[in-house]
Amino acid sequence: MGKTWEYKDLKALLEPFQQTHLLAGWEDLSEEGRARLAAQIRELDLPLIARLFRDRNLPIDIASLVERAVSPRGVRLDSEGAGLSPADAYRLGQGVLQRGEVAALLVAGGQGTRLGFPHPKGMFPIGPISGHSLFQIHVEKVLARSRKAGCPIPLAVMTSPATHQETVEFFSRHGRFGLPEEDLYFFCQGTMPSVDAATGKILLSAPGDLALSPDGHGGMLAAIIRSGTLEKLASRGIKYLFYFQVDNPLVDILSPSAIGYHIYFGSEMSTEVVAKETPFDRVGNVIEVDGRLYVVEYSDLPDELAQKRSPDGRLLLWAGSIGVHIINVDFLFRMYEQVDALPYHLAYKKVPYYDPASGPVTPTKPNAIKFERFIFDLIPHAKNAIVIEVNAAQHFAPLKNAPGADRDTPEHVRQQMIALHRSWLERNQVAVCDGVAVEISPLFAVEPDDLKGRFPPGYRITEPTFFSHTTWVSSAESRR
Ligand code: UD1
Repeated sequence: MGKTWEYKDLKALLEPFQQTHLLAGWEDLSEEGRARLAAQIRELDLPLIARLFRDRNLPIDIASLVERAVSPRGVRLDSEGAGLSPADAYRLGQGVLQRGEVAALLVAGGQGTRLGFPHPKGMFPIGPISGHSLFQIHVEKVLARSRKAGCPIPLAVMTSPATHQETVEFFSRHGRFGLPEEDLYFFCQGTMPSVDAATGKILLSAPGDLALSPDGHGGMLAAIIRSGTLEKLASRGIKYLFYFQVDNPLVDILSPSAIGYHIYFGSEMSTEVVAKETPFDRVGNVIEVDGRLYVVEYSDLPDELAQKRSPDGRLLLWAGSIGVHIINVDFLFRMYEQVDALPYHLAYKKVPYYDPASGPVTPTKPNAIKFERFIFDLIPHAKNAIVIEVNAAQHFAPLKNAPGADRDTPEHVRQQMIALHRSWLERNQVAVCDGVAVEISPLFAVEPDDLKGRFPPGYRITEPTFFSHTTWVSSAESRR
């Protein structure tokens, strides 16, 4: 057992940073409560928090960066002219998968507040017919790619204290959706406290409990290394991570073609992008400045620049990040040594808190600052970083908002899944009657070519059909 932290030790720790209010009510806490609060305080990087608050108003000169921005270099998936044909890119990537050099990495530590779902977002039942969760769909894609490659492919899942326990239990309750135990790795990211926006004082969420939230998906870098997960993956021969977000059921996890281009260009970190529909799409913008790629959030992009067009009429800054990256394992180890590789971003938010003097407070306007790191801030450090342009209808349907919003709701996402799977069937000469919903499990087909030769000529679908891995002829289907 380590040192027992007594009140005076904690007070001495907090005093130089004017944070002793965290100990208010210490007398009323149980033994367990005190140990818990002491542990939370001990985890804090007080000098860092003080510095971040002190510098909160320092201007970040994004404007001078973005005014020199040009279209990022890269390739368009499935189009000729990149020096490597799509078929060759696929073969190159598939070879790397077959050698067991790629792992999938899912970041699922976010709290998903906008969706209003009281569980980790990955548990959301998104399958339009199956009702399968986002987690199940992701895992089945990894399994399908592993079967096609003929070798095990590990999946690492990053959780946060907010999502960890429920996520692990959910996977376990469902038999890890078929993924062998030795191929599944969980690791938990760290947290940062919210501070009062006016004073910099760390907020309590309840007596003896700090208002902590996940430290952003950039917390992945420290968490995957400190948990030993990256070392374990490296020791089984993994050289590349296919990183993706939990909210997008269309993501082509472990896409052989994307991996192929990443390798062909010698990139250390590649990013999948879609062409923005409007200048103000709410996505990160991938830009190139002086030969380096950067992601600039839509909120940081000046309107005038967002609207700039190239002579061909295309938006100059057209590349919207879909939060999918292929990252070299060596690069991550190197970046970890460079402590400042990932800056903190500040967000002013409404954070309910406990005021030792007056009790619980529910603010009506932003009262607090949260600190987050973003994994895409590694991109400018990566050698030969590229973007890989994918088609939005085929690759990007993020679940962000609760029903009723004008986009990215469960209904929108399900419609996009149905439209994509319909297009796969139609490409394979299967007729799907108007308005009929179809859904394809990744275990049945993970890419359209998996459907080749699986249907008799003239096959027609007249009723809602889910193609699971075991059945494809259901009572709901009929032949013309
Ligand atoms: C994010 C990107 C945006 C991109 C868009 C595509 C940021 C800041 N912005 O937007 O550039 O265009 O996705 O959909 O990332 N997560 C963690 N831990 C955290 C916070 C988030 O694991 O502490 C995970 C979430 O579980 C999720 C992913 O990161 O899988 C994205 O987080 P989210 O907050 O939903 O990002 P957006 O703001 O929607």
